[in-house]
Parts: sequence; C-alpha cells; structure tokens
Amino acid sequence: MKGKEPITVVTAYDYFSAKICERVGIDMILVGDSLGNVVLGYESTLNVEMEDMERHIQAVRRGAPNSFIIGDMPFMSYQTSDDEGMRNAGRLMKAGSNCVKVEGGLRVVPLVKKLVDSGIPVMGHIGLTPQSVNQIGGYRIQGKGKDADRMIVAAKSLEEAGIFSLVIELTIEETTRAITESLLIPTIGIGAGRYCDGQVLVWHDLLGINDGKIPRFVKKYANLNTEIEKALSDYVKDVKEHMFPEENHVFKEDK
Ligand code: KIV
Repeated sequence: MKGKEPITVVTAYDYFSAKICERVGIDMILVGDSLGNVVLGYESTLNVEMEDMERHIQAVRRGAPNSFIIGDMPFMSYQTSDDEGMRNAGRLMKAGSNCVKVEGGLRVVPLVKKLVDSGIPVMGHIGLTPQSVNQIGGYRIQGKGKDADRMIVAAKSLEEAGIFSLVIELTIEETTRAITESLLIPTIGIGAGRYCDGQVLVWHDLLGINDGKIPRFVKKYANLNTEIEKALSDYVKDVKEHMFPEENHVFKEDK
C-alpha cells in the first residue's frame, strides 16, 4: 500500500471493539501494550505482562477473525535475551496475532533478524518508545537536531534486518518524512506528522473515552465519555425513581 493508499491502524483490546474494527475495514489492528494505561489503569506500559497480552490478543482474534493483528511485545518479554524474545513472540503468535511489534532501534536488530528467520513478521517501533520512558526522561518529542540521524540509521538497520513496517511515535515531522522517504517498507505514525504511509491511534483517544488527558496529536472523532456518563446517570436516576424496569421489560405467567 506504500505510495498508493494510506494505511489505517487502530488499537483494540477486546472482542467487541475488534468486531467493529473488522466491520469498518481497519487495515491492521494493534493489540498494543497501551492496554496497561487505557484498560488496566497503570501509569505506564511497564506493568503489562505476557499473560495480559495473550488474553487480549485472543479476545481480539475472536472478534476479528479475518483481520491482520499486531501483537505488542510487553516490557521485559524480549529485553532479557533474544531466546526469551523468540519464545515470547511465539506465544503471541499462538494467541492469534499475525506479527509482533518490538520497540527500539539498533539494540533490537539481532532479535528482529532471528524472529524474521523463524517466520515471524516483525513491526518496528522507534521515536518515543514508552517502554524506555525512564531512560528517555519522559514523554518527549523525538527526532530533533542530531537525533534525526540516529533515527534514520536505526530505521534503515531495522529495515535491513527484515521488519515489514515501522511505527514512528511522537517525532518531528521533518525527521519522519526523511525516514518514510528513505525506506521501502511503510511507516505508521502516531504523533509523527503527515508524512507517514499510515496512521495509528489508540481506541480510547480516538473515541474520547478517557479522563481528559488527550495528547495534542490526537484527533477525537467522538466524545463517548460524555455519552457514557449521561447514559449511566440516566440509568441511576431511572432505577432510583422506579422508572426502570417498565412494563415491556418484565416477564409474566403466560395467560
Ligand atoms: O501500545 C500502543 O498502543 C502502541 C502505539 C502507541 C503505537 O504501541
């Protein structure tokens, strides 16, 4: 699709959201480790375990049997050794994903080669890599000044190692553009500007289901928080005031 048609990616974590993604024709569904933040309520992605990823990939696969699913490798599932990374990538594939995503540049090149050699497609992820947030020193915009050269070298090395696509997160547009133009594989951006081959957004951000902390790069396509709060408040009011259940909601002895 590179150079022909922009690629759409959205995160999903459960059966029902996956069903909707498949129905509307999202090109790839990412079961991201952002699961930790938006579903499990952690401060960062660092607490997400392999078991969490497996369970949610299985649910998404049940909801989207015909979609291309990206399984995110959680923190410390591949950083300890390449053997550990291989085994854990295998677990995500068995859970139902079509590929795995790993964060990092030159550091993950040897692992990427091994995974690709073993038949597991790999998506890369550079720019802001949330699993390294403590090393980076916060959720900072990447790719400025000399950092651009470092990112371009990393992207080229990952492509040579065999990744089929590359996520670029929270990066200045000029650097993303240079990377996209220097690669044959598609780039997928999140907070990385307009010059990517595709875009990815987190389900909760896109739909406005959150507690108000929305990054500037997100476009909110709905405000479901408001809708959900209104529906729940109406339900509470109805029950308290004996307005629900109504006649048409109850069962009676057949006459
Ligand atoms: O986990 C995730 O949602 C991600 C996206 C931010 C690309 O990795």
